[in-house]
Amino acid sequence: MTTPLIRTETLSKTYHIGGGDVRALVDLSIEIAKGEMVAIMGPSGSGKSTCMNLLGCLDTPSAGNYWLAGEDVSQLDSDALAHIRNEKVGFVFQQFNLLARATALDNVELPLTYGRVPRRLRHQKAEKALAAVGLADRMDHRPSQLSGGQMQRVAIARAIVNNPHVLMADEPTGALDSRTGAEIMALFQRLNAEGITVIVVTHDEHVAAHARRILRFRDGRLVADEAVAAPVRAAEAVAAAAGAVEAPGAASAPLGGPLVPEAV
Ligand SMILES: Nc1ncnc2c1ncn2[C@@H]1O[C@H](COP(=O)(O)OP(=O)(O)O)[C@@H](O)[C@H]1O
Ligand SMILES: [Mg+2]
Repeated sequence: MTTPLIRTETLSKTYHIGGGDVRALVDLSIEIAKGEMVAIMGPSGSGKSTCMNLLGCLDTPSAGNYWLAGEDVSQLDSDALAHIRNEKVGFVFQQFNLLARATALDNVELPLTYGRVPRRLRHQKAEKALAAVGLADRMDHRPSQLSGGQMQRVAIARAIVNNPHVLMADEPTGALDSRTGAEIMALFQRLNAEGITVIVVTHDEHVAAHARRILRFRDGRLVADEAVAAPVRAAEAVAAAAGAVEAPGAASAPLGGPLVPEAV
């Protein structure tokens, strides 16, 4: 048996606020294999973001264990966690979190400046990542000169520029209209088909239906772990909305290929 990419054992997070405790995540024991596409669902306050922050090494647990790619990361200090994060995890957030004064290219290069990647190589990698998300012609634009969907694609390019093991997205379509959201889900599905493990946090049932597995949380506890028999194929929905004819294989277009097939 191969090592799961993610394995947790009774992973828990309790926040101490004022006089009381908030048990934001309670005894989570799961495994996620390399190559999975998983949705984390639940109502507001159910612990989704807490879970993602722990799995993404943005935060440390109060109790329990977490192995990422076989390495026990539950006891690491913040420097060691930052190193693991930079190497293994790419993040995408609802509000894009781009630097407003930096170009798309500079935003995507940012994670590489923490590593010791030479400048030329940084440029090359960032250009490749932007091309992969369909933004080869927007490299010198600043966030204010881009649409919401384009900004999120810059954020995704930034998240994949380091070839992470896992891409974690917290409500990535929450600030987008449904059509643009479908384009972003199509992009995640394409990256997943290329081999990147994808974990998407959402409170939206329709967004979760793009995953092959849904983890449901309530009051900090995992209450369901479901396989999705037939995930929604976002590329097809996008093509249909564009009025395009059936485009076989659109969902598995190679990285850097057209995100939306040409309408005919
Ligand atoms: N930094 C924090 N300090 C104190 N309580 C927090 C903190 N972050 C989250 N919580 C609490 O933990 C619970 C789970 O929050 P969260 O993981 O953000 O839920 P979700 O993402 O599902 O909306 C909530 O009750 C929330 O108020
Ligand atoms: Mg949240």
